[in-house]
Order: sequence, then C-alpha cells, then structure tokens
Amino acid sequence: EKGGFAHFMLKEIHEQPKAYRDTMLGRIDESGRRIVLPDLHLTEDKIRSINNVHIVACGTAYHAGLVGGSVIERLVRIPVMYDVASEYRYRSPLITPETLVIVVSQSGETADTLAALREAQANGAHVLAITNVVGSSIARDADDVINTLAGPEIAVASTKAYTSQLIAFYLFSLYLAQVRGTQTADEIAHIIAAMHALPEQVESMLANVDAIKAYAEHIAKHEDLFFIGRGLDYAVAMEGSLKLKEISYIHSEAYAAGELKHGTLALIEEGIPVIALATQESVLEKTVSNIKEVKARGADVLALTHEEHVAGLLKSVDQAFAIPKTLPILTPALSVVPLQLLAYYASLARGNDVDKPRNLAKSVTVE
Ligand code: F6R
Repeated sequence: EKGGFAHFMLKEIHEQPKAYRDTMLGRIDESGRRIVLPDLHLTEDKIRSINNVHIVACGTAYHAGLVGGSVIERLVRIPVMYDVASEYRYRSPLITPETLVIVVSQSGETADTLAALREAQANGAHVLAITNVVGSSIARDADDVINTLAGPEIAVASTKAYTSQLIAFYLFSLYLAQVRGTQTADEIAHIIAAMHALPEQVESMLANVDAIKAYAEHIAKHEDLFFIGRGLDYAVAMEGSLKLKEISYIHSEAYAAGELKHGTLALIEEGIPVIALATQESVLEKTVSNIKEVKARGADVLALTHEEHVAGLLKSVDQAFAIPKTLPILTPALSVVPLQLLAYYASLARGNDVDKPRNLAKSVTVE
C-alpha cells in the first residue's frame, strides 16, 4: 500500500509531480494560453464585481492560502485578507456580497473552516472551496469548488495536498486575471508554460536528496531552530516550520527575515541552525543583510536559493542548496519540497512515528 516507500509521507512527497499534473489537467486549454474552469458558477460579471478576497483555512491549508492570496494580489490587484478559520468568525469580519471568500481544506471536514464558510455565506459572500475530497462537507456546502487532484493523503503531515492547493491557486489567480484583463494573454501563457515545467523540476529535486538528508540528521540533534525569509519565502518558511514541528518535535519559528531584529534576534546564539529561504530575487539583497545579522551572532545558516546565487551566498552562509529556477510566484511549489524532506528525515532520525505524530489527527472535526 505504501508502494515500496517506508512511509506514506515519503510516498506522498514523491506523488507530487503527478498531483501537479493531475490538478492542471483539463484546466488549461490546448493552446496553453488560457485557463478553463467550466464548472465554476462564479460568472464573469460576478468576477468583475469582486472588490476583496478573504482566504480562510487552518494549518498547512492556511499556509497555501498565504501564497495563493499573494499571487492573487500580484496578478489581479484585488486586496486579500487572510485568517485562520478558528479566528475568522469571532472578529466580525467585514464581509459583503462583493467579497469572495476562499476556504482551503484538504479533508473538506475541518470544523472551523466549515463554520467560517457558513459565516461567509450568511453575510452574502460567494464561497469558493479548494478541497481534496469530492463530496466532503465543505465541498458540498460551498458555492464553488476547485478540486485538488492529489489523491488520498494518508500521512498526518500534509505534503501533496499543500502543493496541489498551490497549483489550484495559480490556476484560479490566472483565471481571475484573464477575466479582469489584469495580465496580457502573453503574460498568462508565460506563467502557464512555467507551470508545466514544475513536475519535472520536482522530480529532479526528489532524485537528489542526500544533502538534505545529511542536513536533517544534523538538525535532529537540536531542540530549537529558525526559518527566515521575505515575501513568498516567508510563507514557505511558515510551512517548513510547521512540518518540522509536527513530525520531528523540534521547536522552530518562522520569521519574516526583516522582523528578527525587533526582538527575536536575542534568541540567536552560537550554533543555532537558521534556515534562510532566499529565492525571491526582488528582496534577495535585503534577505542577505538579515542573514548577516544572524551569522554575526553565531548562527549556523543554511540557505535555499537558486543555483546562480549559491556561490555569492556562500560568502555569508555555512551551506547552500539550490532550488530549480522558475518564476518567483511559482517558486513555493518547488522550495517547499526540500523542507518536507527535511521534516521527514529529521523525524526519521529521531525515531518518531512519521505518519502518525503524537497528539495530532488527520482531520480536525472539533472547534
Ligand atoms: C499539517 C496539517 C494540518 C492541516 C489542517 C487543516 O501538516 O495537515 O495543519 O493542514 O489541520 O486540515 P484540512 O486541510 O483538512 O482542513
């Protein structure tokens, strides 16, 4: 049942190229220039009338929403707000009929996310669900659904569901941009072409895990570490940190790289591992200055960056691993993979039950 893999989590990490392809299948037309989402009830007029988006989810699905919302803002220029579902209802969110609420849930059964969906509908919003389970409560109650075609996810730690949610967000953001005319046909075709290359890029990373495995065995001896990054790298850092915590039980924090100096830098001491995501070129220089801040306090820094920056970064960090090159907005679909593997191998090195971590359930149906 594990298809020759030692754990479901590793199997599911390896299923990601297929999950990307399946989630894209039939949603891009033959010319490779347009997104087609024929099942959507959201009309083009309705899409043009949306003036804000709320993204609501829990845990890993929320982290996918952080990436997705940022992509919507960049490609479509609509303001996006984010909430973890357990907070959403209780802060009296400003929901109007012009609000599009996107709920994200692998299982489609998360109680807080379902309650958020109902709150949004009660206030007249159109609710789009991104889910992985056809016929789930959230899929049934939402006004629209984009199914991620990741296949069943068994391991408690979510991997292929997260990356498929990213693909769903890319497709939907491009669709909004197409309808609202905020990106040209050529720009859309360019992004689609880069999306088609993602599965093979993931395969290339999965064929080459020795360095990340060795690094995981190194951090398995630590009790605390930090992930830092800016922009989309920060969103991915949050997911990397959650993954590591939930299965390796190593404490970690994800920090916006520029925010460390406002207090948390006090925790950086000799030898503490810091994983710096440095893939977003528009903020690379700033991230490098933040890396220097932790390095000066004795941190042991691993950078994840593109090949062309490895040599330069090695002047400021202890190790650097290369992430294949894609468009900045698509990079999370690649840069999260080594972090999933890091969590997996660190958990393994500590002798934990990788697929069934302590205290956690796959589907959280209590509020
Ligand atoms: C972490 C993880 C959880 C879930 C969260 C939401 O690996 O799996 O954080 O993402 O419980 O679950 P769904 O997506 O089913 O609503």
